[in-house]
Amino acid sequence: MGIKKSVVIALGGSIISGDDINLKFMEKFSKMISNYSEEYKFGIVVGGGKPVKKYITSLRGYHVNDSTLDEIGIYATRMNALTMTTFFDDSNIKIPVTVDNAVEILSNHNLVIMGGTEPGHTTDTVSALLAEKIGSKIVINATSVDGVYTDDPNKNANATKFSAINYDKAIELSIGKSIGAGPRIFMDITSLNIAKRAKIKVFVINGLNLEGYKDILDHDKTDGTIIS
Ligand code: UTP
Repeated sequence: MGIKKSVVIALGGSIISGDDINLKFMEKFSKMISNYSEEYKFGIVVGGGKPVKKYITSLRGYHVNDSTLDEIGIYATRMNALTMTTFFDDSNIKIPVTVDNAVEILSNHNLVIMGGTEPGHTTDTVSALLAEKIGSKIVINATSVDGVYTDDPNKNANATKFSAINYDKAIELSIGKSIGAGPRIFMDITSLNIAKRAKIKVFVINGLNLEGYKDILDHDKTDGTIIS
């Protein structure tokens, strides 16, 4: 086996933590990822999910500043990340708090699992920064929607899915929606800018469907959207 390829997966909080915590998914996901440990090194960046949105929305009513709300979000992402580690035999046991810490772990491990780092962005940006730093050319953005649409498909029945778009179009679709803690977009703008400068191919897929990861890891193809 030659040098392993590396892949970063941005695991959207919405797929692992809704009204309940989706432990069944975490179990299946961890088995699937472990099957690729001979071929790939993985950076897995876990989002916050529904509880975060509740905290952020409720506290906003009490005029709590966005930096503090972001920090609350970060703690939630780290709690989910730590939960995810328990499903792997060979993962880090402490959650790295910076991208550099994560890179250090990956230098002698196959896998690193982390959450957020600092206020002002989401785990999408953490994923892009981690990918840039380790030279990974692929980020899988695993979300609750199965790709990037012309508009929010939950609100607009006429929205259609892109099979492929360029970075600038993705940035245009994300722009103006990334302000404040707890944004609701497919990816934040900073992450898209980093993907663009580092020429990282981003796959946006329905994270609950394990076949979607296999399509990418085995065949470099997707039913979702490719941003490149
Ligand atoms: P998520 O990465 O889950 O953000 O972090 P999101 O885009 O709102 O959620 P999904 O992807 O739709 O599930 C949750 C919140 O934590 C804060 C932000 O406020 C973010 O909205 N956060 C997270 C940070 O401030 N910095 C980080 O590095 C990560």
